Amino acid sequence: MKLVLKKGSVADAQKGYVRVALIDAAKGVKRFVKEGESETLQIGIGKEPLNQRQFIILCRAIVNAAKANKIKKFALELPDLDEVRAQLAAENFEMANYEFNHFKTKPKEGWNDVEEILLYSSAAGLESAIKKGQEVGRAVNACRTLANTPGGDVTPTTLAKSAKEAVKGLPVKVTSLGEKEMQKLGMGALLGVAKGSSEKPTFTIMEYKGASGAPVVLVGKGVTFDSGGLNLKPSNSIYEMHMDMSGAAAVIHTVALAAKLKVKKHIIGLVPSVENMPSGSAFRPGDVLKSLSGKTIEVLNTDAEGRLILADALTYAKRYKPAVVLDAATLTGASMSALGTYASAVMTRDDALRTQVLDAAERSGDYAWPLPLWDEYEEMVKGVFADVTNSSPIRYGGAIEGGMFLWQFAKELECPWVHVDMAPRMTSAPGDELAKGAAGAPVRLFLKFIETY
Ligand code: BES
Ligand code: MN
Ligand code: ZN
Repeated sequence: MKLVLKKGSVADAQKGYVRVALIDAAKGVKRFVKEGESETLQIGIGKEPLNQRQFIILCRAIVNAAKANKIKKFALELPDLDEVRAQLAAENFEMANYEFNHFKTKPKEGWNDVEEILLYSSAAGLESAIKKGQEVGRAVNACRTLANTPGGDVTPTTLAKSAKEAVKGLPVKVTSLGEKEMQKLGMGALLGVAKGSSEKPTFTIMEYKGASGAPVVLVGKGVTFDSGGLNLKPSNSIYEMHMDMSGAAAVIHTVALAAKLKVKKHIIGLVPSVENMPSGSAFRPGDVLKSLSGKTIEVLNTDAEGRLILADALTYAKRYKPAVVLDAATLTGASMSALGTYASAVMTRDDALRTQVLDAAERSGDYAWPLPLWDEYEEMVKGVFADVTNSSPIRYGGAIEGGMFLWQFAKELECPWVHVDMAPRMTSAPGDELAKGAAGAPVRLFLKFIETY
């Protein structure tokens, strides 16, 4: 999508560009008015000034209204445009223009995406904000494509390749460990999950050194398909489980984006990846796995697999002596029960870090909300026949249980750590004004955090 900044007013737009008029009608009102030569797309925004959340939805709604009316080029003026809002506009235009069409036959008339937007503003110096916003939006969309791609096409092996491809031409070093190397290291938790699949596990390390000093380490859950394993998921729950590598996709494209934007930070991305399958060689409920940390894990549910691969990744992170560690994972259905589908769940024992992450979430439009990790919850992850268990018989607080399990490994890190359970934001939700499928969380949150950390 081409996005051009223009001085003057929308009335100056050449023929061929539909004018967008933001009118004093109820939010959500959309009308396409044609009068002779002039075509106007009217969008209701109400009387009150728009807060940032409303502004983001408006930007997406404009693009979607254009798409619905097969408008290829339009011109508009946005109220109170400054650098922050110009970047947000560009980001969200790109995000709204995205659809996962990869496997669809192109219609004769082509896709109904927007090709060009003229953005009129009297404010000066918004060019770089617009450019940056487009880069961010494109990275989010690349993340969505990787997550949307079916499990038959994205395996741990191809995911590792995707990490390399994502950073082609950028100063990012990518290395991948194979099964043998992981055995040598002793990643028994990750390898335990991988056992049931004929797809070999991978562990990918991305390094972008935009500055010297202790790195920010990002860890992303890369389960390329989560069947549940021997604790097989019911058919309704297995749908969309090819997106159980959404955390990994976000880490890959955050590192790539940071490198593209030349962010002056040292960043490491860790992508542990497996396929969770039931088979004669699968790990069983009751099995005890020996993790990289040395801690033993009693597997009470093979469907609580994400925390197992993350446990080894968190231990692996230690070797980088990180300044801070953030993980992103579609870890629990319970986080969706707790929060619904409009915010990722944020869990950390570090108050300052929690504030920073929540602030980055709000400012980036990649929303999140906190859950506690108090000592009391540690009961849930105590093992009977091993040091810890991956699933407790306690029915409530499943999202916190997942976080508390990860804490058993993260507490060895000697640096602040935060867990982002992004299951609520794995896919777009009604009212998001985003195409069906992957939502691209938490790329924007991670970028904003890294920039401001
Ligand atoms: N990948 C799932 C969680 C999930 C569910 C993500 C729906 C996105 C949408 C995870 O591996 C899982 O199966 N979690 C279990 C944990 C339980 C067995 C302790 C869950 O949430 O039921
Ligand atoms: Mn699972
Ligand atoms: Zn999973």
